[in-house]
Amino acid sequence: MDAITKNPLLPYLPKITTSLPGPRAQELIERDLAVTSPSYTRGYPLVVSRGEGCMIEDVDGNVFLDLTAGIAVTATGHAHPQVVQAIQQQAARLVHMSGTDFYYEPMIELAESLAVLAPFPPSQNGTRARVFFTNSGAESNEGAIKLARYYTKRPQIIAFLGAFHGRTYGAMSLTGSKKIQRQGFGPLLPGVTHIPYGTPANLDYLEKQLFTTVSPPEEVAAIFVEPIQGEGGYIVPENGFLERIRDICDRHGILMVVDEVQSGMGRTGKMFAIEHWEVMPDIITLAKGIASGLPLGAILSRPELMTWPPGSHATTFGGNPVACAAAKVTLQLLQTELIENACQRGTQLQAGLKQLAQRFQQISQPRGKGLMVAIDLLDTEGKLSPKLRNGVVDKAFDRGLLLLGCGRAAIRFCPPLVIDSEQIQIALEILAGVLEATL
Ligand SMILES: Cc1ncc(COP(=O)(O)O)c(C=O)c1O
Repeated sequence: MDAITKNPLLPYLPKITTSLPGPRAQELIERDLAVTSPSYTRGYPLVVSRGEGCMIEDVDGNVFLDLTAGIAVTATGHAHPQVVQAIQQQAARLVHMSGTDFYYEPMIELAESLAVLAPFPPSQNGTRARVFFTNSGAESNEGAIKLARYYTKRPQIIAFLGAFHGRTYGAMSLTGSKKIQRQGFGPLLPGVTHIPYGTPANLDYLEKQLFTTVSPPEEVAAIFVEPIQGEGGYIVPENGFLERIRDICDRHGILMVVDEVQSGMGRTGKMFAIEHWEVMPDIITLAKGIASGLPLGAILSRPELMTWPPGSHATTFGGNPVACAAAKVTLQLLQTELIENACQRGTQLQAGLKQLAQRFQQISQPRGKGLMVAIDLLDTEGKLSPKLRNGVVDKAFDRGLLLLGCGRAAIRFCPPLVIDSEQIQIALEILAGVLEATL
């Protein structure tokens, strides 16, 4: 691990040498604000110039410890030398040809690898999945909605409050996280019903109320669920919840679609978060960590479900050869060392956060699995405090620690999976300093 994260070009620990934002960052932010969409949500003024391992350098030469991984994406760290080499070699050979109309080896190889890893039962020829490649998480979910409707010939979909599945119309219609993400964009996809997440008892509402009134199970194509809710707050469901969804799906011929866009690719200490439970879904959607930062997503389905004929679903860029080459190396690194590292560093992180929760009453106990971990910030009455959370995230930035919020008042910790024990320790120390100065 040390060889990956302790690199010669950037300092290994944070180093802030200007006021923030520095002069060059300030200038670029002004230019950005004049011409880019105001819908982007920049929490603090970080203007990135370079990334290596878990470190980010800004345009003024300040160096930050990154516990965001570019929203849980750069699984192998920024610019992992083996990933960079694979990208360079593939780019020099073939950048694009479109896997929709033509064949090329990087896409075939990656589909083969995913078809072996998929947590579905093996089929007669030994493979476990068929794969459709996309460019993003939203596009993966969009395709999964189409596949579920096409295969079952049913119109309705069940999703969960707190869920985040993406910004395109189908994916947005499944999203139930924050009203700003939907408000003003209706009408959305018809036939989507949201229910509360996380406890098996919530599924009584589905079976006893919805199935008997507005959503007859014979008309439900799929239940879309994140095995650990991501944007909704890094919420780990109670045991029995995912098992019960599987059981409901089995009894009614409904497909269980598991959105692993954020929780997949080793982040939770297993290749797919659903593997923490004894549940096999029917379809899995992927993106984010799959190609270490190149835009790539995938829909994995049990082989027999992909019955859609040529032309029924396609994409120009999905499965781009350069992205597939990056993903191939990413999968190898995950399997050889990084999934294990996510387990170990996640345990260390949660232990450190538990100690902080003892010291500071205004943070909750940590939750999560592997390196998908969060704490809530609470006001003096014990209520969730988005204001406090935002203040802590901002101050951590000033001290060289990059964090992201999620849910109403949570801080999420989703570093590159190459993070080492010293960096976890430094992150905890910076956070402790910020909490001491804030609370
Ligand atoms: C669980 C989940 N699904 C889907 C998405 C959408 O992915 P993308 O932004 O690549 O469209 C996200 C993004 O945060 C996500 O966390």
